[in-house]
Amino acid sequence: MNAPVTPEMAVNVGGIAMRNPVTVASGTFGYGVEYAEWIDVRRLGAITVKGIRLEAWPGNPLPRHVEVPGGMINAIGLQGPGVAGFIGQYMPRLREFGVPVIVNIWGTSLDEYAEVAARLSDVPGVSALEINVSCPNVKAGGASFGTDPAALASVVAAVRRRTKLPVIPKLAPNVPAMGPFARAAVEAGADALSLTNTIPAMAIDIETRRPVLANRIGGLSGAAIHHVALKHVYDAAQAVKVPIIAMGGIFGAREAIAFLIAGATAVAVGTANFIDPTTPLRVIDGIRDYLIRHRMASVSELTGSLQT
Ligand SMILES: Cc1cc2nc3c(=O)[nH]c(=O)nc-3n(C[C@H](O)[C@H](O)[C@H](O)COP(=O)(O)O)c2cc1C
Repeated sequence: MNAPVTPEMAVNVGGIAMRNPVTVASGTFGYGVEYAEWIDVRRLGAITVKGIRLEAWPGNPLPRHVEVPGGMINAIGLQGPGVAGFIGQYMPRLREFGVPVIVNIWGTSLDEYAEVAARLSDVPGVSALEINVSCPNVKAGGASFGTDPAALASVVAAVRRRTKLPVIPKLAPNVPAMGPFARAAVEAGADALSLTNTIPAMAIDIETRRPVLANRIGGLSGAAIHHVALKHVYDAAQAVKVPIIAMGGIFGAREAIAFLIAGATAVAVGTANFIDPTTPLRVIDGIRDYLIRHRMASVSELTGSLQT
């Protein structure tokens, strides 16, 4: 059998038609428009934008990120222009790219999540909502929505009720087992899942004996978390049937392909964008080369193809 000349790269993630399986991770690619100066963003499968809440938000005080071996710890604190600012400032340009836009949303209460979802629902060019559940639920004592399956289900259901867009909860990695969280999210109405977010972490300056970050704690991302994320993606794919967008330490096609084999339908490049903004494009090309080399006709053949 001859190898296919151009393998099929298109995927459908819970209703989002992507021309290839590669997007960018929220918060590592601005609102997409900033990166258009550096790379051809039209080649991406989708653009996932920085987290949006109801009102403009200043984020945390500086310093709010630090490089560590194998990655970085950030406590940006979800700085952003609020939902109206995002729609007005960024959506007109984002629409011009002709690429699906996944809007990452967050809130400090169920009502806020639901309201942000409702306001984005009929905005032309918005293709899906990714729900960041790694946020404190202010009304329920500050515990994160993402570390309790019942709280996760309640936020997914609240968003689901207010939008017809595909709903993609972004699961937190700091849980004992991913299966119950994946099932809770899907039962509450998720069309797809994305995972994982950063891992809670901290850094200490031993000379001053102070935390390096003003916020004291932050989230670890980059190569250091790849194999943790890989296991979570594998476990989620075993637990549910909906498509998965996988992220965590993708620096080239190798990590992306591992995620696909573990069960992901698409992948997102995060921290690597800060080092080399062409990484997502290299990942697209690398996946295509791999499919050709392995005589696969389509990228969907890779999804869940782990041999045991
Ligand atoms: C600086 C920075 C900002 C981030 N902002 C967000 C955000 O606004 N919403 C969100 O859900 N995840 C956010 N994340 C998490 C990433 O989207 C991603 O899940 C995580 O970094 C793991 O991927 P990576 O190892 O490839 O970076 C952020 C990560 C970084 C490093």
